Order: sequence, then C-alpha cells, then structure tokens
Amino acid sequence: MPWYHSLGWRGNPFDYRPSADFFVFKQLAHEVQKHIESSAVVSTYGIAGMGKTSLLYYIDSKLPRNKYVPVFFDFREVAGKDEFLTVLKRRVIAAGGLLARVREFMDGDDRSITERINSALGRRQLVLLIDEAGLLRDEGVASLLATIKDRTNSAIVTTSIEPLSTYVIYKGSFREGRVARELPFPLPLKEDLAGMVRGRIERVGGAKTYPFADETLEYISKISGNIPREMLINCQNAAMYYVDEKLDREITSADVEVLLTGKPVAEHGEENIERIYNNLSDNQQAIIRALVKPKSAQELEKELSISYGSLTKEVGRLMLQTDVNMMFRKGLRNPVCTKTLNRPYKYVLTKKWRLLFAKE
Ligand SMILES: Nc1ncnc2c1ncn2[C@@H]1O[C@H](COP(=O)(O)OP(=O)(O)O)[C@@H](O)[C@H]1O
Ligand SMILES: [Mg+2]
Repeated sequence: MPWYHSLGWRGNPFDYRPSADFFVFKQLAHEVQKHIESSAVVSTYGIAGMGKTSLLYYIDSKLPRNKYVPVFFDFREVAGKDEFLTVLKRRVIAAGGLLARVREFMDGDDRSITERINSALGRRQLVLLIDEAGLLRDEGVASLLATIKDRTNSAIVTTSIEPLSTYVIYKGSFREGRVARELPFPLPLKEDLAGMVRGRIERVGGAKTYPFADETLEYISKISGNIPREMLINCQNAAMYYVDEKLDREITSADVEVLLTGKPVAEHGEENIERIYNNLSDNQQAIIRALVKPKSAQELEKELSISYGSLTKEVGRLMLQTDVNMMFRKGLRNPVCTKTLNRPYKYVLTKKWRLLFAKE
C-alpha cells in the first residue's frame, strides 16, 4: 500500500514535478500574458523550485488555441538548431496542418523558415515558451530566435536563473531593448504556500490541510526558505513520518523538528522489501547499499562512480518521484529514502530499508 493511502489520500499531493495546478504567482502570470498580447519578449527569472517550468505550463494552459500557437522548449535538452526545429516543427505542423513538407521546413535558411511559420500560423500568434533559456549553448539558435521574433507574429517567454540580459549567448540576438521586461519570481507568502498545500491535499481527497496544523505549515514554509518545491518535499517528508509513526493527531512543528534531527522512524511492514530489492537495477541496489549511512548526491556520486545525472534520476525513482508506474511494477509502494530537511541534502533510507541490511 502506498504511504499516502494511510492518510486516506488517493494520490501523493506532494509530487513535485512541474504542474500548472495551484500555481501561486497569478500576478506574475498575468503580467506575462499582457506581454504576450503585445508580442513582446519577456524574461522571467528565479532560483530552482520557484515554479519556472510550472509558470510556462500555466501560461500554456491559459492561451486559447484559436488565437495562439504555444510551443514549449526545454533548453536543457536543446543542443542545437536541429533539435530546436524538430520541436517547433512538430507543434507548428500539428497546429497548422499546412506544413506537411517536413524536410523543407528543416532545410531552408532562417528567413524561409519564418515564411513557412507564417503561412502555418494564419492569423494566430506564435508563443515560444522557453524553459531554462540560460542553458543555451548554440548561437545559431539564438539568432534564429531573433529572426523568428522579427519576421513572424510571435511572443517569447523565457525562464532562467538570472535575467536573460546577463547571458552572453543572447548578446548578439537580444540586444538592449529587444527584451521588453525582465520579471523576477517573487517570494511567495506563507499563506500562498499554505493554500497550495491545501489545494493539493483536497484534490487527493484530504480535508483542508490535515494532518498539518496551520502553525506547522508556517514552520515548514520557514525551513523551506519559502521555496514552493522545498515546501512540497518537506511536507512529503513530514507526512511520511506521520504514516511511519502511526500518529493519530496533527503533525506539530515539534514533530517536524524531530524529523529534522534524524530520529529514526518506526517500521511499517507489508512490502516484501527483500523481493523488491531483488527486482531493482544494479545501480539502484548499489545506491541503497551505500545509503546505510545518509549521504548527499555528491557523496554518492564519488563513492559509486555513477554520473551525477543518472544518480539523481535513480534516486528520484527510489523516492517515487519519477517513473512511478515502473517502480510500482517492481513492487515498490513507498519511497526507499527521503531527503533531509536542511541543505546540503542528504538522502536517508527509511527504517525498513535500513533494517534490511542490519539483518545481514
Ligand atoms: N509558484 C508556484 N505555485 C505553485 N506550485 C509551485 C510553484 N512553484 C513551484 N511549485 C511546485 O513546485 C514544484 C517545482 O516547480 P518547478 O516548476 O519545477 O520549479 P522550477 O522550474 O523553478 O525549478 C512543482 O511541483 C510545482 O508544482
Ligand atoms: Mg524547471
């Protein structure tokens, strides 16, 4: 049984993948929408977990399809022009139908590409939603962006850690004045974060913010630095603690503190973890064995010589944050480990997984 069923929830309300739901920066989104209406380039910026990707999903969900053709890009994954055009093409073809001649679209120079975009758009406006724009390495893409901006009916919304004007790669294409506005992500108010948690809990069938008392949520916001993603992770840790401890009352900030100081949590049985362990991949097993002591991602990387990327991916699976269905098929119903509440994060095995090795 997944841990959240013990709370009467039909899903994990603290799933921290990007999502347009319960997005708290409505004002920011509203401003961005205005810039889209005036066909501008707008740069939003903020640190990890503030909701950059979620903002783009949110905007995307609000744009009426009879007026706009939104295209989402993740610049972590766009290495060059080919990839950029593949994504663009897929969306513009789906929207326009006219552009069936795929090859032609890919070939031509930047100007002929913009002509084809225009004919597919008709009266609609192209909206490029570019996530992690600061990670672009290919100047060709930067200058194609500028050409598209100039020669088509389009708006561009970017997210990045710093304002767009600080990235050298855009110096040639988005010179001064080209970017209409640079909008920072604000820090959310604690009421906003409590509202986000409440909305998420109610959506999975819970009642208000139970099992969190109001002051507990305030405390969790504080230790999360008011960062939405950290808030979700810390709420998940606390809720799992609640389940592990078989608590029958609200979680207090004192409970959260106990969790912070790493007191071991009680066991709850049911899963045959030895069998699950044997279903896991070699890397996953190695990570679990290494976590007999809490370790940070960097420490695991060093010890196991697994690349940082695959390491965090595998840990995400073990925490049931990604590829949940695949992990369910392996028999896993509850996260193998959690993250400590304070930075630098360490991964901590839940007690029953720790016990697996204590027996040996
Ligand atoms: N402003 C916000 N309002 C509501 N939820 C948010 C907000 N920011 C982040 N979240 C939630 O936190 C998680 C991480 O958000 P994400 O968009 O991936 O952040 P970023 O892209 O800035 O790293 C997601 O589950 C998202 O739904
Ligand atoms: Mg993101």
